[in-house]
Amino acid sequence: MILFHQFFDPTSSTLTYLLADPLSGEAVIIDSVKEHLGAYLTFLQEQELQLAWVLETHVHADHITGAAGLREMTGARSAVSAAGGIGCADRQLRDGDAIVFGSEVIRVIPTPGHTPGCVTYHWRDRLFTGDSLMIGGCGRTDFQGGNAGQLYDSITQRLFTLPDETLVYPGHDYKGARVSCIGQEKLGNPRLAGRSRQEFIEIMANLDLAPPRLIDEALPANLRCGRPDSREVHGA
Ligand SMILES: [Fe+2]
Repeated sequence: MILFHQFFDPTSSTLTYLLADPLSGEAVIIDSVKEHLGAYLTFLQEQELQLAWVLETHVHADHITGAAGLREMTGARSAVSAAGGIGCADRQLRDGDAIVFGSEVIRVIPTPGHTPGCVTYHWRDRLFTGDSLMIGGCGRTDFQGGNAGQLYDSITQRLFTLPDETLVYPGHDYKGARVSCIGQEKLGNPRLAGRSRQEFIEIMANLDLAPPRLIDEALPANLRCGRPDSREVHGA
């Protein structure tokens, strides 16, 4: 039985994570991508895992979540930040909440800034940081209610205060990196290492990035938990 697996979506460079409890076989998927639903289901079946939770680190602008399909096909429940505006999820998460699967526990750390509803998930010795802290970078703050000062505070006060050896698994990597740790990002992340809050805000204001290709399609779909139409917007 595999207890930890990283999937990669080459179209959006999204990293998706599967965590499993060895005793019960219960599993969790973080930041799924709709197009890979079949691969997740095959993996769960091959590893004899039961999906308990489908988690999002935030409302994604660059891909559509696989949450709807995973909920439907496996009976798993979905959980998102209470500040994310995704009313269709089964559970709204707050600071310090625990997501339990078998005998394993994930803790919720709010890390707003890239979006107001961004969270980091803390499981064992590792963090799933979504687009808050990335390897040698961080999520952009120029749309979706982004706020560079808030992101700086989230990273420096909530993540950089954890032990240096804590592993960092981001929501994306565009350069082939797959894992980092808090110590490495504190020392070497060019946007953050040795930077004041004001310097960080200036860096983020001058990135000059094009909008994500799929944003017009992805944002509304993800606010519907990945469903293809609006029937479930006000669902349970
Ligand atoms: Fe994002």
